[in-house]
Amino acid sequence: MIRSIKGIKDILPDQMPRWAIIEATAHKLAQCYGFSEIRIPTFEQTQLYSRSIGESTDVVEKEMYTFQDRDGTSLTLRPEGTAGVVRAFLEHNLTSQLSMRKLYYIGPMFRHERPQAGRFRQFHQFGVEVFGTEDPFMDVEVIGLLWQYFSDLQLPDLTLYINSIGSTDDRQHYITQLQTYVLDQVQDFCENCQRRVQTNPLRVLDCKVTKCRSLTDNAPKLLDHLSSLSSSHFQSVQEGLSLLKIPFTLDHRLVRGLDYYSQTTFEITSSHLGAQNTIGAGGRYDGLVKNLGGPITPAVGFAVGLERVNLLLPDSLIPSSPAKVFIAAFGELGRPTGIKLLHTLRQSRFIAETDYRAKSLKSHLRTADRLGAQLTIIIGDDEKKKDLVIIRNMQNKMQIEVPISLVSEKLGLWMYNNVDIFLIS
Ligand code: HAM
Repeated sequence: MIRSIKGIKDILPDQMPRWAIIEATAHKLAQCYGFSEIRIPTFEQTQLYSRSIGESTDVVEKEMYTFQDRDGTSLTLRPEGTAGVVRAFLEHNLTSQLSMRKLYYIGPMFRHERPQAGRFRQFHQFGVEVFGTEDPFMDVEVIGLLWQYFSDLQLPDLTLYINSIGSTDDRQHYITQLQTYVLDQVQDFCENCQRRVQTNPLRVLDCKVTKCRSLTDNAPKLLDHLSSLSSSHFQSVQEGLSLLKIPFTLDHRLVRGLDYYSQTTFEITSSHLGAQNTIGAGGRYDGLVKNLGGPITPAVGFAVGLERVNLLLPDSLIPSSPAKVFIAAFGELGRPTGIKLLHTLRQSRFIAETDYRAKSLKSHLRTADRLGAQLTIIIGDDEKKKDLVIIRNMQNKMQIEVPISLVSEKLGLWMYNNVDIFLIS
């Protein structure tokens, strides 16, 4: 048997009601905040990702699924959505149509990471991107939407962390100081940090190794090196969050693993998850559109890991499955009559099912039970001859006889008006 690939999961039918809620809430909320949906391709030219995310990031260095097209072009399965949305934004000139663009997407992403709880090689994100405003209140709006999404889904024990990594200039000044600090004791840092201090120094700050963390506790802080412009932007973001009563915690280590960020960065974690506890994250990326060949365009966005949302989603939010009717039709006359009735019920949008293999009432009822049908409509030759059907309540096994011509009407009263079918004369 050919098995699925490690870290790449099927989402089986019993999980779908959970995913339906997760996705429907995302669509509803994003639209409520004025976002329009965009569907971008699942693979693009490799250079789109390497230029956006950064050559020296983990994602580009070791996590991308990259392959050669037949003409030799290097292509990559999307590891995230932001780069593709910016490419589409520029390619379709969405810049010129409105002064501000708010786009959202839901779909699979691909990263060759070591699979573990909450971390997969194919996973799904709900993401939003806003182009065209540097107003700090847009950062607040985007964070507010993320917070609202998780609140609507009643996810437990959330913490919002925020930070500012300032402008490119702010970082350049700061990075020299950070490098000096780390290089002074470089032999005490883990191997990864020893390499990163040269290739991507900011990432030394979010190393998970305890020894490195205690060493960087006393490192110079980026927040102390922000220009007055960056500082006042970050101040306004904090004021905006307080205005909306969204609780937050400052985290000077929050530098994010993708290189396109500037100014505000944020993530939301839940203490109910293990090591992979970030459910949504994002920030400002004011330089990316220009970096990909467009005009200077400030931007901000986030992405949520939907598998992690699913792990936290309370069962109480999942609606009970809709009422289902089963048709148990048999005999030379009963079977065609039942099949016709099945067709009629489906045309009226009842959820109706039968089992063409079942030859006896007993096996019909077994299937009806397995499918979770509330009612079974029994029709054999005897019933057809009298133009009747038997309606059986699968829970209490009560049965009544109903003329075939009245079945749809009675089922309608039962389904939509909550009328007990056994009390209708
Ligand atoms: P990211 O932090 O790389 O940001 O991913 C966002 C979220 O996707 C993570 O917080 C996590 O919940 C989920 N995620 C990432 N990798 C995996 C994985 N291997 N398995 C399961 N879930 C995962 C971005 O992707 C940015 N594009 C966000 C953004 C949008 N920034 C601005 N706009």
